[in-house]
Amino acid sequence: MKPISLTGIKPTGKPHIGNYLGMYRPALDLMQKYQGMYFVADYHALTTMHDPATLRDLVYEVAASWLALGLDPDEAIFFRQSDIPEIPEFTWILSCFTSKGLLNRAHAYKAAVDENLTLGRDPDEGINAGLYNYPVLMAADILLYGSDVVPVGLDQKQHIEITRDIAEAFNRTYGDVLIVPEGIIQESVMKVPGIDGQKMSKSYNNTIPIFAPEKEVRKQVMRIVTDSKRPEDPKDTQDNTLFTLLSFFAPPDRLEEIRQLYLHGGAAYGELKKELAGLILTYFADARDRYADLMADKAYIDDVLATGARKARQMGQPYLAAVRKATGID
Ligand code: TRP
Repeated sequence: MKPISLTGIKPTGKPHIGNYLGMYRPALDLMQKYQGMYFVADYHALTTMHDPATLRDLVYEVAASWLALGLDPDEAIFFRQSDIPEIPEFTWILSCFTSKGLLNRAHAYKAAVDENLTLGRDPDEGINAGLYNYPVLMAADILLYGSDVVPVGLDQKQHIEITRDIAEAFNRTYGDVLIVPEGIIQESVMKVPGIDGQKMSKSYNNTIPIFAPEKEVRKQVMRIVTDSKRPEDPKDTQDNTLFTLLSFFAPPDRLEEIRQLYLHGGAAYGELKKELAGLILTYFADARDRYADLMADKAYIDDVLATGARKARQMGQPYLAAVRKATGID
């Protein structure tokens, strides 16, 4: 059997091209060398998402996105985290091997504490224990199936390190029971700028959505922030949001032409934005059709996820059994 590559995505927002370039595509590319496991991390979403209808909708949207963007459910194991009852059990066991100090230092928790302190509030105000234990749940996701590699964005690097620490602590106590995974951090396409030039992220409200109505995609692209240079002025391609986004979607020859127009004059931002919108819509045309079909057939999505969960549980149960045996909880 091929080594296992596993990744999860939290259903907390609509998929955008930053997610695609930084996460969906690299993760799907790994299918050639690895047995891919992909899941919708709804337990993780619950740390922040407390509206049931929205959570249900987003689980379907994220599942349909994976399938529309090329995940083949006959090849990959594709499932919903909360369909795996072994996960919460394993999370508890792992939490008994996680030093509390490690969790105190986790970036997301620390950022929340720092914000409270800045505002003169109690350090833990508004912070639930789910957010605090988030890295342990993620370690359970990864370690349950004996994952070899975990493709993630840079923002998840620390979580992979914590997972490795937890696995090593467990193995120090009981011998080599858990597989210590490697992160595959997507360095090259990590920095997809949003329309305002900051990193593209739902939290900055600067995304270009993949599956929104065509009008909305075009509107977002037209809102890309540019400077006030006229078409005939020479422009820098470096740190130019529009050029960077074009570089992901324009064919190499055309990109070179555009680069020359930037450097020597002739690049009109408005025209290039229209071109970019067209390129994006063409690039995702098939995926957008598939997405619409999938969202019209939720029973199919349910079916795919149920089959995936059965396979995932089959993979995980022997590891959990070994863990229970090692600990004496058997
Ligand atoms: N924490 C990840 C994120 O926010 C999602 C996730 C949950 C994950 N469990 C995982 C990613 C396991 C990789 C492996 O993006």
